[in-house]
Amino acid sequence: MISDTYTFKILRYDAKEPEKEPYFASYKIKVIPGLTVLAMLLRIRDEIDGTLSFRSSCRSAICGSCAMVINGKIDLACRTQVAIFETDTIILEPLPNFEVIKDLVVDMTPFWQMYEKIQPYLIRKSSEPEKEIHQSQKDRKKIDQFVNCILCACCYGACPVLNRDGNYAGPAAMAKLQRFSLDSRDERSAESLEAFNSEDGVWGCDTVFRCIEACPKDVRPTDGIVGLRKTLLKNKAKEIWRAVKK
Ligand code: SF4
Ligand code: SF4
Ligand code: FES
Repeated sequence: MISDTYTFKILRYDAKEPEKEPYFASYKIKVIPGLTVLAMLLRIRDEIDGTLSFRSSCRSAICGSCAMVINGKIDLACRTQVAIFETDTIILEPLPNFEVIKDLVVDMTPFWQMYEKIQPYLIRKSSEPEKEIHQSQKDRKKIDQFVNCILCACCYGACPVLNRDGNYAGPAAMAKLQRFSLDSRDERSAESLEAFNSEDGVWGCDTVFRCIEACPKDVRPTDGIVGLRKTLLKNKAKEIWRAVKK
């Protein structure tokens, strides 16, 4: 039987002190059944070591700020109960594919830069509507899965392509691009998708589905990428057809 005292081994590093190598710090703490990894991190910081750094806010898998590697698996610390592991040692590491700022806090700049690039908002060309633009339930269903994204970057950390190519747009940005391009109210041009018609965009994906495995919200970013590929190919076919008809 696993005892109620757990050892948390947390990878510590401070980018302000690059001369010091990363190391695992160990903290022993009693865990009450039902408590999450985040709850224990907050207790470790409050009761044992105030220098420990990590991000969190909502504590309910909504804000997307507490993504990390927990016993080898990328997940949100606030939705992972300590008791699910068949061991009393919990190893915590920062999200892969990012520079570490301090301990479990990573520099999310490349993630947000890619997100900004896809123009993550409704683009309209028609004149201002007099009342809200109606969206049918059928049209809303088309974007359901992508709307659920909380921008936690679990998928970005899991993606093997980003591990070797920092220019790759990544699963979250492309899932969002598909979310807006499928939205019945969005009027972005076919050309705006062209910026992602490259090896750094939709064609860079290895379709190994690690992002799907890592996503805590069942967004399935690979579906978005495959959907974008289909749209781009359809647009190309239409363009060729128009040229042949001339
Ligand atoms: S697609 Fe999933 S894993 Fe990726 S940022 Fe969105 S919620 Fe997080
Ligand atoms: S399916 Fe594509 S985007 Fe998702 S983890 Fe694999 S390579 Fe990355
Ligand atoms: S604290 Fe908000 S998602 Fe975990």
